[in-house]
Amino acid sequence: MTLWSGGRFEEGPAESLWRFTVDTSDRRMLVDDITGSIAHATMLGRVGLLTPDEASLLLEALGAIKDEAEASRFVFLDTDEDVHSAVERRLGEAIGDIAGKLHTGRSRNDQVALDLRLYLKRSARDRISQLTGFIRVLVELAEAVGDTVVPSYTHLQQAQAVPLAHHLLAYAWMFKRDIERFSDAGKRIDVSPLGAGASGGSSLPIDAGTSAEILGLASVFDNSMDAVGARDFASEYVWCATQSMLHLSRLAEDLLLWSTSEFGWVTFSDSFTTGSSAMPHKKNADIAELVRGKAATLVGDLTSIAALQKGLPMTYNRDLQEDKRIVFHADDVLAGSLEALGGMLSTADFHTPDPSDWVAALDLAEILVLRGIPFREAHHLVGGLVAELVARGESFADLTADQITEFDARFVADDIASVDPVRSMEDRVTHGGGSMASVAVQLVALEDFLADS
Ligand code: ARG
Repeated sequence: MTLWSGGRFEEGPAESLWRFTVDTSDRRMLVDDITGSIAHATMLGRVGLLTPDEASLLLEALGAIKDEAEASRFVFLDTDEDVHSAVERRLGEAIGDIAGKLHTGRSRNDQVALDLRLYLKRSARDRISQLTGFIRVLVELAEAVGDTVVPSYTHLQQAQAVPLAHHLLAYAWMFKRDIERFSDAGKRIDVSPLGAGASGGSSLPIDAGTSAEILGLASVFDNSMDAVGARDFASEYVWCATQSMLHLSRLAEDLLLWSTSEFGWVTFSDSFTTGSSAMPHKKNADIAELVRGKAATLVGDLTSIAALQKGLPMTYNRDLQEDKRIVFHADDVLAGSLEALGGMLSTADFHTPDPSDWVAALDLAEILVLRGIPFREAHHLVGGLVAELVARGESFADLTADQITEFDARFVADDIASVDPVRSMEDRVTHGGGSMASVAVQLVALEDFLADS
């Protein structure tokens, strides 16, 4: 029995229609759906659309159904068209025809928008807390690796010497912005659409403000058509999840590179790696590869949720039933990735080799700049020195004071000391730069952030 059979329908739904239109992906919103119904029934009682007796009967039964749902005892039937129909069916089983009063002044259109908002409000909080935990892992790692020096890379070529902690904290700042994005999106999720009805409100004296307040939602819709037709809050959520996955995917790629025999910067614990069925020596970082792969599926989700809304006429159209699968998929993948990659990272063992001497080249050029030589000229000069050393099969470390001044009179003997990667790194004192002093400042800021979270 559907919520719409009888009435104008003389025949029941065809088997093929049923199989095609029924949705089960919304079952995870069961508790939210009941929470919404409890708020709605309470409001109906307050405005006098239900007598006090009717209101308590409905609310008591809904409370019992919520208990069933929370204890995973709620049984769905094949005849339930969606989660809303299932709850109304169960309510009917419990209290009979009076259950039919619950849908007074309400439509599944405002109901489903509400359920998704309640679900995402909670999910956003969960993802924020997971992202905070991930930042904590990065901060702890940054502290643990101390003053280990690595090359930074641009174009995947060694660039400048930086603390490994600086590289790790670059991700901490990215994830902090992801948190801010989720929290900002949360403001637009935190709006009640309940009371918008099918699309144009109701002639009954329902009160949207009351149900919003009961639900603890921050505000109420301004336009009933917008309330039931809009899904920008859902696409924004998918965008937040996608951007976080893109950050995770970049970190995963770095970790994969670092774990190769060629880099040899990191070893992952046995419990977070997998073996090869063929090659006995292999220890694979499948978690990182899967995070990288799964990030691609979120890019797909983002396209899907955008395409779903393109050209959709006002207001609610059944197309919107597809939004939930997309949002849930994106959210589940992000939740799983944060957990798995966080575990792999927190148990990783870092042992980075020293960077090549070349990473001090820019710092050497900057020493010349301090002596008044135009940067372009200094760049050319150091480049020439590098070329000569490369031709001799040598590097900065092989240079003597005589050689550097002989190479060009604009160098002084002391410049030899500056081509040490660690020294050059520590001389780099610019704001947020790659020095231990900057790492110390960043750690204080991130620790403050974590303490306030
Ligand atoms: N299952 C539907 C969805 O997810 C619920 C709303 C149905 N509304 C309707 N008028 N058929 O969008």
